[in-house]
Amino acid sequence: MAELRREPLIMAGQGWDGYRLLDCGHGRKFESFGDFRFIRPEPQAMWAPRMDHWDADGEFVPGADEDGGGRWSLTRTLPEDGWPVAWNDVTFTAQPTPFRHLQFFPDMAPVWDWMGAQLADRSDAETMNLFGYTGVGSLALSRYGRVTHVDASKKSVAQARENAALSGMEDRPIRWMVDDAAKFTAREVRRERRYDGIILDPPKFGRGPKNETWRIEEGLPQLVSDCAKLLDSDSRFLFLTVYAVRMSSLAIAGLLQEALAHLPGVVEHGDLAVEEQGDNGRLLPTAIFARWSNPG
Ligand SMILES: C[S@@+](CC[C@H](N)C(=O)[O-])C[C@H]1O[C@@H](n2cnc3c(N)ncnc32)[C@H](O)[C@@H]1O
Repeated sequence: MAELRREPLIMAGQGWDGYRLLDCGHGRKFESFGDFRFIRPEPQAMWAPRMDHWDADGEFVPGADEDGGGRWSLTRTLPEDGWPVAWNDVTFTAQPTPFRHLQFFPDMAPVWDWMGAQLADRSDAETMNLFGYTGVGSLALSRYGRVTHVDASKKSVAQARENAALSGMEDRPIRWMVDDAAKFTAREVRRERRYDGIILDPPKFGRGPKNETWRIEEGLPQLVSDCAKLLDSDSRFLFLTVYAVRMSSLAIAGLLQEALAHLPGVVEHGDLAVEEQGDNGRLLPTAIFARWSNPG
């Protein structure tokens, strides 16, 4: 029976050449994405910034409504089709989007590393990336075997395939699925499929390709339960992140523990964070996570 470790953990990314948290404070953060620097809103950075001045190429100015909206205000011209950023052997296109991010989530880097560590001895693993967005996680996983990438957005999946080509990984065994994550997973259960590892990074609210509604509080228990049915005692991991929702990591750890009660291994939970550059860099929390691992 999967054992729950009660003490929370921190999975903190230190940044790399392609991405750094340069400074943060007073409700904003200053980051570099390759050669370009941006300022974005960050309500959790309540402390004071350390630098006197942020010389950015652009800033995302939020709308009056705190649940979204806003626009980019650029101080310099950016490459029209974005620019390449690398993480290990994966290269992808960074570009400001109307949703205030830049086509990838740098705080996921320690998660990509952790999943790799769970599969380090494998080259034939079967993994699934639900809500896979622009595919950086799927490309990272493809080093260990076959990957099923699922996202509702045709545009995101097209971008993920472009990122595969940019990384020289277009021949990797990745199934690119434009589908509703919950429906697709339920179908995989009916097909009696199994996976060695599953990652899910669901938004608070989303829509499937046929306008199916995804609301995390309503959909997550069934989705986690279905994911658990696709894993067995030889499987290695399940990784769940949740962000922008009022929820503790203990809650999602409890959900994983219940769903994975029939399997060995451990369930851990905590915060994902990004560490500011420099000495004594502060930790900026970005999401909560719960993860199951099973060394076998
Ligand atoms: C925050 S992103 C995931 C980020 C990604 N894991 C990464 O690290 O790059 C959320 C994604 O969920 C997708 N999405 C929203 N609702 C969905 C649904 N019902 N089924 C499948 N994907 C959905 C969106 O298209 C979006 O690409």
